Amino acid sequence: MRILVTGGLGFIGSHTCVELLNENYEVVIADNLSNSSIDVLDKIEKITSKRPKFYEIDVCDKEKVSKIFNENEIDAVIHFAGYKAVGESVTEPLKYYRNNLDSTLTLLEVMKKEKCHNFIFSSSATVYGSPKELPIKENFPLSTTNPYGTTKLMIEQILADLSKADKDLSIIVLRYFNPIGAHKSGLLGENPSGIPNNLMPYIVRVADKKLPFLNVFGNDYDTPDGTGVRDYIHVVDLARGHLKALEKGANFKGIEYYNLGTGIGYSVLDLVKTFEKVNNVKVPYKIVDRRPGDIDACYADPTKAYKELGFKAIYGIDDMCIDSYNFIIKNKESHK
Ligand code: UFG
Repeated sequence: MRILVTGGLGFIGSHTCVELLNENYEVVIADNLSNSSIDVLDKIEKITSKRPKFYEIDVCDKEKVSKIFNENEIDAVIHFAGYKAVGESVTEPLKYYRNNLDSTLTLLEVMKKEKCHNFIFSSSATVYGSPKELPIKENFPLSTTNPYGTTKLMIEQILADLSKADKDLSIIVLRYFNPIGAHKSGLLGENPSGIPNNLMPYIVRVADKKLPFLNVFGNDYDTPDGTGVRDYIHVVDLARGHLKALEKGANFKGIEYYNLGTGIGYSVLDLVKTFEKVNNVKVPYKIVDRRPGDIDACYADPTKAYKELGFKAIYGIDDMCIDSYNFIIKNKESHK
C-alpha cells in the first residue's frame, strides 16, 4: 500500500512515516518545509534504512498535488500539513483559514479526480472546546475558542458533508490530545523555532539552561494541584494510531472519529516533577497568570479507539519525559 503523507517531515508526520516504513508501507511525503527541515528525511532513512519519495510542495498547489498522484499510485492519504500555533492563529486568522482549509480542499479535490478513497485527517482535542464532563468522548458537543481550532472543526464539517455525498469514501478523523516525547533514537523530535508555546518544548529548554525558568500559567484551576491538566501522549504511540486507522479505513466506508490519548491526565507540576526525577535535572518555575483561553482539564476517553481500532498507548509519562530530553541533548547544536 502506498501512502501520501502531507506534512510528513513535521513532528507527528515524521514519526508516522517511520512507523509506516517499518511496517513496509510505501511512503510518499509532501511537505513545503515551512515548519520542518529537509534533514528529517535523512533521519527517517537512518532509522528505517528506507528513503521515502519526497516532494517539496505546498499542498495548496493543485497542479503539484496532481503531479504526485500522476507519478505515484496513491492508496490513502494522511493529512498532517497545516499551521498549528494557537496564539498566531488569533493574530493572523486569515493565514490559518486560507492555508488549513485550502490545502485540505485541494487534496480532497485531487483525490476525488484520481479516485483515491482513503483519507485520514489530523484533528485535535481542541474541537471539544471547554468540555462539561471528563473524560472526553467522541460524541461530546464541539466548539472552539481560537481560529486554529476552528479550522480543525470546519474541516471536520467539510469531511462529514463529503462523506454523505460520496459513499465510496473512507474518512477517519483522529483527534489528538497532547503529543510529546520523541523517537528513542534521538534523531526525531519536536524542534520549534523561537520561544516555544507548548509546555514540553519549554521544559526541555529550561532543563537545558537555554531559558531561565518555566512560567506555569496559573495554579488556581479546578484541578488537584491547581495547575492545568492534560492528556499527554507519546508521539510514537500517536504515530502507531495512524497505522491502526489505515487498517480500519481499508475495510470501511463512511466517516469515523477517534480520540488518540492515553486517558490519563497529568498537571503541569506533575510533568515538571516527573521530568526532573527521570532526567535528574532541575526545572525552575514561577507561577504566573493564567494564559487566556486555557481550560482546567482535558483528557480522553480512549475506549472507542481501543475497541474499534485496537489502539492503546503503551508509553507512560516517564518515557515521554526521558525521550523529549534525550532528543534535545542529542541535538544541542541546532538549539544554540
Ligand atoms: N503551560 C504552562 N507554561 C507554558 C506552556 C504551557 O504552564 O509555558 C500549561 C498550559 O497552561 C496548559 C498545559 O501547560 O495547562 C499544556 O499547554 P500546551 O500549550 O502544551 O498545550 P495545550 O493543551 O494548550 O494545547 C495543545 C496544542 C493544541 C491542541 C491542544 C489539544 O498546542 O494545538 O493541545 O488539546 F489543540
